[in-house]
This record gives sequence, structure tokens and C-alpha cells, in this order.
Amino acid sequence: MKEIEDLKRYYSDRAKEYNKTAGYKDPAAEKIRKRIKLRHQKYFKGHDVLEIACGTGYWTEVIAETANSVLAIDTSEEMISIAKTRLSKKQNVNFKITDVYVLHDIHDSFTAAYAHWWWSHIPKSKIRNFLLNLHKKLISGAFVLFADHLPDYLEKEIKVNYNEDGDRLEERILKNRKNILL
Ligand SMILES: C[S@@+](CC[C@H](N)C(=O)[O-])C[C@H]1O[C@@H](n2cnc3c(N)ncnc32)[C@H](O)[C@@H]1O
Repeated sequence: MKEIEDLKRYYSDRAKEYNKTAGYKDPAAEKIRKRIKLRHQKYFKGHDVLEIACGTGYWTEVIAETANSVLAIDTSEEMISIAKTRLSKKQNVNFKITDVYVLHDIHDSFTAAYAHWWWSHIPKSKIRNFLLNLHKKLISGAFVLFADHLPDYLEKEIKVNYNEDGDRLEERILKNRKNILL
């Protein structure tokens, strides 16, 4: 599916600027996230977590503080490489480059799953397939958390389009001015 491939390419191209553009270097946002981080650490305490689409590992670092183990996956080599550097001292974190719609070569006994800023990227036609695949990797009664944007986050100037399935596609502009509709 074109949208899925465009998304992977876009995030690989964005990896180097991601921490800044995502607000991860913003002290004011960091202050707000403090309480959210503590909540995450409470939720994942002692869990063996499968983290979907980990990006640069910002939230991996948060949950790894209290989780028993974290397997963080992403399709972007560029993202995973930044995440690996961030978490180089953490013994309980492993990374894998794999597609969430395939989850190739991943064991099936996670006690929890986590994804931050991922849910809104799933095309409507793929939600069922994504959830069925994910469930195969979890024990019964596993804890699952998807965290995403609030509806009013949108920048006013952003160009928006909808595909025939009703998926919202937004124009994103990278630092090198490369435009992409996701
Ligand atoms: C919005 S970023 C979220 C990153 C991180 N979770 C965070 O909140 O900062 C979305 C991530 O999904 C990854 N991604 C895109 N398509 C994917 C796929 N099919 N399988 C796994 N990861 C994918 C991208 O490489 C990117 O790192």
C-alpha cells in the first residue's frame, strides 16, 4: 500500500530532525511530560514490553526505567540507530528493525505492548490486521497502551487530503523542503 511505504520513507528522511520537531528538546513541553512519564513508568513496571514504532527511543527510555524488558521495533534504520545510541547503557532494551504489519521473528510472550504516536498512522483498512498480528505476540490479559495526539493539535496551514478509504493524509515538510503527503 502506497501510504504505508510513503510513511516509512518519510520517517527515515526525518530521523535526524525528529527529536527537535517532535518537541523532545523543548524544556516547557518536558515539564508537562513529567507527570505523563511517571504514569507510564507505573503502568509498565515489571512488564515485558513490545514497543511498536519506537522512533528515536524517547519513550523507550521512559518505560525502560521500570519495565522488566523492552523490545523496541521500527522500520527505520535511521530511527533505530538514534534510539540505540540513546539507550546504549540500558541492559533491558533490545531493538529490531521490522514492520508492525508483519512482526517477523518476534516471540509471543509479551506481557504488554506500547505505541506512542503510532495509532493515527494506521490506515483504516489495516487496523484489523495490525491488531490481530499484535495480539498473537501477547499473553492473555496483556496490558496495551496507545498514546496519540489530541484532536486539536493541528497546525492551521497544513494541507490535508483524504484517500478513498477516508484516511486523512497530511502534508509534512522536511527541513530540506521535501514535501510529502502521509
Ligand atoms: C510519529 S513516529 C513515533 C516515534 C516514537 N514512538 C515517538 O513517539 O516519538 C512514527 C514511527 O513509526 C515508524 N514506522 C512507520 N511505519 C512503520 C511500520 N510499518 N512498521 C514499524 N514502524 C513504522 C517510523 O519509522 C517512525 O519512527
